[in-house]
Amino acid sequence: MKGIVLAGGRATRLGPASRATSKQLMHVYDKPLIYYPISTLIHARVSEILIISSPDQIGAFQSLLGTGEEWGCSFEYAVQTEPRGLADAFVVGADFIGDDDVALILGDNVFYGGGLGEQLQRYTDPEGAVVFGLWVPDPERYGVLEFAEDGTTVAAVHEKPADPPSSFMVPGLYFYDNSVVEVAREIEPSARGEIEITDVNNVYLRRGTLEVSKLPFATDWFDVGTFDALLDAQTWVAGQQRRKGLLIGSPEAAAHREGYIDDEQLHALAVAAAHGGDLTKSGYAESLLRILEFEGTH
Ligand code: G1P
Repeated sequence: MKGIVLAGGRATRLGPASRATSKQLMHVYDKPLIYYPISTLIHARVSEILIISSPDQIGAFQSLLGTGEEWGCSFEYAVQTEPRGLADAFVVGADFIGDDDVALILGDNVFYGGGLGEQLQRYTDPEGAVVFGLWVPDPERYGVLEFAEDGTTVAAVHEKPADPPSSFMVPGLYFYDNSVVEVAREIEPSARGEIEITDVNNVYLRRGTLEVSKLPFATDWFDVGTFDALLDAQTWVAGQQRRKGLLIGSPEAAAHREGYIDDEQLHALAVAAAHGGDLTKSGYAESLLRILEFEGTH
């Protein structure tokens, strides 16, 4: 299965901070926002990844992430000339996807939860589509699940409904079989002028091939689209990391955990993260080394 990180959009809600840079390059505590979705894909054991961004920002992502080889991954890059909607990722990424299945993760979605990687690894060979449901107090801001009378069968997905039919929203991580490319090509733009991922999911639902998996209530999830959401994510990551002494949303840590890189490679990445080799100058580098200390191998 291949993976796509969609890191386009104008991030108008983050202006003027987003005027000259991309939201997904902004930092959430000690690492760029895009590190979080990439590490989620790595935990799902998806390592062939396409990063999609706007023409003026794609170069910055390339400078930051390179070929992916150091993390045991392979990264490619593609440009979305206009933010035409989430489903456009499959049109832009059609050549990259080829004959494969594909996972899409939004570049501003942060996921964290015990056992999440194992849960996601179950969906990397989907027959149809797999999306997730997560209980939130403000579902009207997202794609929302409507359940049939039995309370478990999904009847429809609604994009930002004024009157949400449930409190379960669909977060920005989706797994599809190869037919998603054709499905996306057929979607008509919505009232807000975008080809909606929710419409893609409703096509699979009508075909009877949409699997909806509820995420455990304890799953932490952030859609980092506003200053407050950014601050909340920063504070949460900082607090978790300080208490546990471990990194959240680190591609290096994820690659090490999933066996893509060994101890020596992780050590070399810590040195590289310190920019010039002084490991005490970057908290991130020190945190990477701590992973090895835990294991007592260095
Ligand atoms: C998008 C999707 C929505 C989904 C959300 C998750 O919303 O359209 O269905 O629930 O991402 O972050 P948008 O980012 O367009 O507001």
